[in-house]
Amino acid sequence: MPIVTFLPTGKTVDVPPGTELLDAARIAGVDIDSPCGGKGTCGKCVVLIRSGDVDTDSLGALSQAVVSAGNVLACKTRVLDTPIVVDVPEQAGRKGGKFGDETDDVNLIRHELLPKNWQYDPLAIKWFVDVPPPQAGEGLSDFDRLVRRLQLEWGKKEFVCPLSVMRLLAGCLRVQNGQVTVTMVRESDRYHIIGIEPGNSTVEHYGIAIDVGTTTIAVQLVFLPLAKIVAVRSDYNSQIWCGQDVISRINYARREDRREELRTRVLSTINNLIRQVAESHNVTPQRICNAVISANTTMTHLLLGLNPEYIRLEPYTPTLLEVPYLSASDIGIDISPESWVYISPSVGSYVGGDITAGLLCTDIAIGANGFRLFIDIGTNGEIVIGDNEVLMTCACSAGPAFEGGGIEFGMRAAIGAIERIEVNPQTGVPNYSTIGNTKPRGICGSGMISLLAELFLTGWLDGAGKLNRQRKSDAIIIDGRHAKYIIAQADETYSEKALTISEVDIENIIRAKAAIYSACSLMVQMLGCELADLEKIYIGGGFGRFLDIRKAIVIGLIPDLPHEKFQYIGNSSLMGSYMVLVSDDYRDRQLELAKRMTYIDLSTEPSYMDQYTAAMFLPHTDSKLFPSVKN
Ligand code: FES
Repeated sequence: MPIVTFLPTGKTVDVPPGTELLDAARIAGVDIDSPCGGKGTCGKCVVLIRSGDVDTDSLGALSQAVVSAGNVLACKTRVLDTPIVVDVPEQAGRKGGKFGDETDDVNLIRHELLPKNWQYDPLAIKWFVDVPPPQAGEGLSDFDRLVRRLQLEWGKKEFVCPLSVMRLLAGCLRVQNGQVTVTMVRESDRYHIIGIEPGNSTVEHYGIAIDVGTTTIAVQLVFLPLAKIVAVRSDYNSQIWCGQDVISRINYARREDRREELRTRVLSTINNLIRQVAESHNVTPQRICNAVISANTTMTHLLLGLNPEYIRLEPYTPTLLEVPYLSASDIGIDISPESWVYISPSVGSYVGGDITAGLLCTDIAIGANGFRLFIDIGTNGEIVIGDNEVLMTCACSAGPAFEGGGIEFGMRAAIGAIERIEVNPQTGVPNYSTIGNTKPRGICGSGMISLLAELFLTGWLDGAGKLNRQRKSDAIIIDGRHAKYIIAQADETYSEKALTISEVDIENIIRAKAAIYSACSLMVQMLGCELADLEKIYIGGGFGRFLDIRKAIVIGLIPDLPHEKFQYIGNSSLMGSYMVLVSDDYRDRQLELAKRMTYIDLSTEPSYMDQYTAAMFLPHTDSKLFPSVKN
């Protein structure tokens, strides 16, 4: 079989002739950016063939001159029966999210959202019991004696135990004279024993709340006896190499081996984050005995290895909306293997468990004095509008711009991200601040909103997203038809390269904000009211510590309403997962909300595209909709 060598890492792989270069790279453990999922449409998987022959269909997507110089699309190129050496260029836009220092993502805890008057009732409990020793002639097994002891305290319930835990029972009972700690899950009248340890380990009791986003994944470690969040970490979902949005991932997952690759990738990110939060608190994964995962419908399918293809095809049918409890070992989550994993219920193909979890952080469903709106800004923008009687929801494809995807120096809201910018009206030169007050590594969603609003208000950017070419500024570089804005000079940044934003980046941000604004205005219209009638608007998303409402209005991301009507609730999917982890009431409420919601498919709404096109301007083509910006 021909050997493929990938530079600059030098990794090699033997693959049969006919193997796609993109697949060969995956097998070798080399990441090649493939935002369109390998369909040959994005042109991002370009590699350089240094030596050897290949069979390629890259012409068309790439020019003759580019292909003649040895460049090919990895997804449209096959290996022949000769060794080849392939140069993989450094992948821009991914570096910003990876950090050597694994510090807590403190921004992911919204203290104001921590429940105050709720009933603490986690799914898994730990119970210490003193099981009497066996007596000659009583005819009771170890399990019989354990159950009798538990029934004394928990009543005449049925207790069941999987074989893997049963195998530990005899040994555990004999370490400390019958004193053991049992981990149990209650399910109506039946108790499932999911773990047993010698001695009293009731205070070593942890759970995990997980938000699986298309672009980023966040994990909280929760000390269950006090319902206290003790560590939080986030990272990019390593599936982003296989497509930037859910449609690209679904395309990528059409082949079974690639579906398995996506499952392995998301699990590796989750398990790596679990390891980090556990190690940061000296907790062994065995002490983590319950997990709640919230994700959009496609991510849920990919995590479980389900075929997501029919989510994309009419009539858009997922395999599952409500997932039954599964064990951690069934899914592949590295915690106590028999732990029950609860997956937040989805509403439809494009409104998933991340939204039903996020809704728990709002009071939309109980509002009686007018409609309230919840906007979750992620790679997909999801909107929920309603009150105590009606709940309508929809999704729009915002793209990953606000999470740093598709923006050359974009990054998630983590240490080193520029989050606020002011622009000098006279010189156009910026003044910025970063999360953690460190050297800048990139710009996060709140920084992008701040930058565009400042440039627009100071006249350095026009409504169409073009930088001002009439006035001279040290911060603007004009290169023919293209222009870039320098946010930080090379000597100020972590990478020692100038940190810039191009007009192409700005266009991506404008597309994202237009998708969200037009979906909001359409949903409001469908309920027969006006944006001004909304009583309250909750905004969720991974913007970090704050979202500047004024600047989000200036760029036309959110409606021009009094600021007191808005509440930024951060990563509501993660906070909702936490609520479900610690309280049975929230699990019930989430299921009820999922059933109450009516899903609206925007692709069947003829006026959506018109509204979207009208919103492709700063703040909007109809300036009357943004009177505070006009003034
Ligand atoms: S063109 Fe190859 S992955 Fe998009």
